[in-house]
Amino acid sequence: MLKIEKSSEMVGFAAAAMVAKQLIKKPDSVIALPTGATPISMYETIVKFVKYGIISIEKAQLFNLDEYVGLTREDPMSFAYYMEKHLLSRIERVQHNIPATDTKDPEREASDYEEKIEKAGGFDLCLLGIGIDGHIGFNEPGTPFSSITHVAHLHPSTIERNSKEFGRGRIVPDIAITVGIKTIMKSRHIVLMATGVEKSSILKESLFGEITSDVPASVLQLHPNLTILVDKECAAKVISNASEFHRMNL
Ligand code: F6R
Repeated sequence: MLKIEKSSEMVGFAAAAMVAKQLIKKPDSVIALPTGATPISMYETIVKFVKYGIISIEKAQLFNLDEYVGLTREDPMSFAYYMEKHLLSRIERVQHNIPATDTKDPEREASDYEEKIEKAGGFDLCLLGIGIDGHIGFNEPGTPFSSITHVAHLHPSTIERNSKEFGRGRIVPDIAITVGIKTIMKSRHIVLMATGVEKSSILKESLFGEITSDVPASVLQLHPNLTILVDKECAAKVISNASEFHRMNL
C-alpha cells in the first residue's frame, strides 16, 4: 500500500500511528527502528502518544537497524546517542537494543545481534528509511538479499553524505553493523518512509525497477505486507507511473 501525505511531518505522524496500532494490537511487539532525518517526526509523535497515555512501549522490544563501528555511545554522531535524544530519554523505560558501537569484535557483535532478534521472534513491524543509493539499514548496493546481521562496508556515496553531517576534522566511520536484508524481509509488516524530492528517483527505481541487489530497497517489491509512506514532494516523480501502481497492487 502506498500512502501520500501532505508533508514530511505527516509521514512521521502516519508512521507513529502504525507503531501505535501495532502496540495496541500486541503490546509486546518486536519493532525495528531506523535513525536519520526522516524518522525524527515519527519519534516526536511517539513521545507524545506515550505522554498522553495513548500507547505504552514498556512491553515492546525495540531493535535499531544499524550502528557505526568505532564510536562510543556518548558520541553525538552515534545512533545510540540519536535514540537517547529523540526517544529513549523522553519516555518510560523500554527494552531497547542496538549493536554495540565500541566493540572489539564487530563480527561477533553482529552474529549475537542476529541471535537476539531471532530469540525475540523476529520483527512484527520494521520501519525503514531509504538512502539515495537505495540502501535500507546499512545494506549498501551489492549486499546479497540472503544477508543476515553483518558488518557492512559503507558505500562511498554514503560516506560522502555522512561527512557533511560529521563536519570538518572528524573521521567518518566506513564500517557499521546492520541488520541484513533477509532479516528485514522476514518482518511481518514493513513500513518504508521516504520524504523530499531527493528520494524520488531512488524510490521510483526501487518500486518499479528491476529487483536487484544493486538497488537494495528493490527487494521490498517481494514483501507481502509493505506500506510506503511518502510526502507530496517525494511522490511527484513516482506518481507518474500510475499504471505501475496498478501492476504492483499499490
Ligand atoms: C539509519 C538507516 C538508514 C537511513 C537512510 C535514510 O538507521 O537505517 O538506512 O534510513 O540512510 O536516512 P535519512 O532519513 O537521513 O535520509
